Amino acid sequence: MESHFHPLLDNQKVNVESQRVSIMMALMCLSLSSLLALVTAGGVRNCHLKCRCEVESYGLFDSFSLTKVDCSGLGPDATPIPIPLDTSHLDLSHNSISYITDSMLSGPGYTTLVSLDLSKNLISRVSSKAFNKLRYLETLDLSQNVLENLSDGCFSGLPLAEVDLSDNEFREFDLNVFKTRGQETPISVDLSNNLLSMVSCNPRLHAPFIKSLLLAGNQLRTVPSLAGIPLQYLSLDGNLIQSIDEGAFEELTDLVYLSLSGLPELSVIHPNSFRGLRNLQVLDISNNVQLKALNPDVFEGLSALQELNLSKSVATPLPVAIFNHMPSIKSATLGPNMHCWKTHKQGQFHRQIGQAKANEILTCDVPGIIL
Ligand SMILES: *[C@@H]1O[C@H](CO)[C@@H](O)[C@H](O)[C@H]1NC(C)=O
Ligand SMILES: *[C@@H]1O[C@H](CO)[C@@H](O)[C@H](O)[C@H]1NC(C)=O
Repeated sequence: MESHFHPLLDNQKVNVESQRVSIMMALMCLSLSSLLALVTAGGVRNCHLKCRCEVESYGLFDSFSLTKVDCSGLGPDATPIPIPLDTSHLDLSHNSISYITDSMLSGPGYTTLVSLDLSKNLISRVSSKAFNKLRYLETLDLSQNVLENLSDGCFSGLPLAEVDLSDNEFREFDLNVFKTRGQETPISVDLSNNLLSMVSCNPRLHAPFIKSLLLAGNQLRTVPSLAGIPLQYLSLDGNLIQSIDEGAFEELTDLVYLSLSGLPELSVIHPNSFRGLRNLQVLDISNNVQLKALNPDVFEGLSALQELNLSKSVATPLPVAIFNHMPSIKSATLGPNMHCWKTHKQGQFHRQIGQAKANEILTCDVPGIIL
């Protein structure tokens, strides 16, 4: 890892180095007797008076260590906070921070951060270069703030794997903000519980490498167009979507998990809505109380589907024909007490409702299901 020391700090750096060597030697001696992971609390050089710093050492001879710094709950005007060199995890939650300036996260120690928690502040503004120095940052938590927007390049160059933006005040969101040059790691993005009525992704730009996208608890009225994003996991739970249209997820061919649960206004899912989802394994359409009936052709194309949840949705029993579109189905919940699963031989007390493969039988645990 590169270092960003100011020349004036050279003396201090030498001291830090020698101190670190003696700490490491002490740790090595201790570890010889324990051979277990060690935690040394306190005594960490440059630990801010009000922060709690600890070094966790791992490995047979403590060859590997992580410095974790907890500066949560220090109150307003605490920033910028000096942190120990080589800090890997920093918690700045609960500090009434309202604005992340360019310099706040640029001091010594910040360059090595792998994880940064800025949740539960009052952040409404993030300067466009605020995260520039965090070259190793993989996990960023900005949840429970009052963000409405982020500037275009604010995450560029960061090796982010997980970004939590839940419980903020975004009304519109352009997913291209997660596109970083030479992106190799897929990102998981949580945008749950915002005020989103629009999520977009410019199809003319190279799509961001997002693998998991949580959009639950927003105000989306239609399924957003996410074409080109190699999504594997998508949740649209609790939005204001009224209908799902033919081909709504057409280009999401990598999708494995799709959740459309608790949509209070969803009244219709059109045939072929899930067309193209050839890798989808789990589909949750539970808790959609307005969804009165479903055409069997809704499920057209779900050739890899293993689990279907229709609990508390669809008042009228579904025809067995729905399973014709799902040759891989293993388990389906069709109601609160109505569960079907696939077995290799016929159960003695269960009623057979369909046959998918030669010796595989779909069995349901509720008497009286309509064939
Ligand atoms: C972000 O939102 C703030 C507050 O609503 C506004 O003043 C600012 O102009 C917005 N910035 C951008 C880049 O849209
Ligand atoms: C189906 O959905 C209901 C309601 O959301 C949930 O309680 C239940 O655990 C789900 N069942 C399965 C098998 O996932």
